Amino acid sequence: MPTVFNSIPEIRNALKTNREKLGPEGIIGFVPTMGALHRGHAALFEAAAAECDLVVVSIFVNPTQFAPHEDLDKYPRTLEADLELCEQFGADLVFHPSALEVYPPDFQSYVEVEGITNSLEGEHRPTHFRGVTTVVLKLFNMVPADRAYFGQKDYQQQLVIRRMVKDLNIPVEIVTVPTWRDPDGLALSSRNKYLSTDERTRALVLSQVLNSTSAQLQQGEQDIQKLITEGLVQITEAGLKPDYFSIADAETLEKLCEPCQKMVLLVAAQAGTTRLIDNMTVELSE
Ligand code: PAJ
Repeated sequence: MPTVFNSIPEIRNALKTNREKLGPEGIIGFVPTMGALHRGHAALFEAAAAECDLVVVSIFVNPTQFAPHEDLDKYPRTLEADLELCEQFGADLVFHPSALEVYPPDFQSYVEVEGITNSLEGEHRPTHFRGVTTVVLKLFNMVPADRAYFGQKDYQQQLVIRRMVKDLNIPVEIVTVPTWRDPDGLALSSRNKYLSTDERTRALVLSQVLNSTSAQLQQGEQDIQKLITEGLVQITEAGLKPDYFSIADAETLEKLCEPCQKMVLLVAAQAGTTRLIDNMTVELSE
């Protein structure tokens, strides 16, 4: 089993000792998570283990990225199984701090990335990214690593983190790992646990819409508005309630009126009471 550290001084110390052991060429990889780990998280551990000499995983359900009406209290907590998955997929150290240590009662500093956080997830969850960037910067300071691994599953999140790292000159390289899907196309998510069998079947419409929209763009379809309307109709007909379906520039997330070379299709929808997100990048050949 990986060694678990529960306090900030302990993990700092462990990183310092390991850094000394590895020497100047050693590469430390870091994978921040909120636990309830699944094969999608494991893909990040695998990628980190393949490229780094030491892999550190953090497990922390970050309260500041949940709005009061969201699922903080019922967010799945499965530490024993999480540690087994960490072990199986090459994590060496696990950092599992308490909420009180990360956010002591006198806490009053937040990190806010502007612009790219305003649309999509930011529009539907207005305080979400402020909580994400705050905790990720804090984690980067607690776990000083050379590389940090994020999933494409949360496309906007990895762009927001990249922005923060660039704007604030944080000395870490961000690596984005492709979305891990079940064989039927559903993107793995800790929240899939909330889905009933019927909702899970209906949720397949999300990857289907992404695939069919991507195929149409590849075949030269120019009418973005038509594609969006069709996608929203399909999602609604499958019994989900879409928050958005957007075709955007893959780097800036600006909404497109006509196709460009590197695009991303992003979707968010409610299946019953569970909110799901998914995305797909589309690159047109010149
Ligand atoms: P969490 O939802 O636990 O996800 C941790 C990391 O796993 C994120 O980078 C996410 O994009 C990635 N991930 C989740 N499902 C994936 C899948 N199916 N395929 C590939 N990667 C996947 O994202 C967070 O936690 C938090 O916001 C965090 C960054 C830890 C800050 O609290």
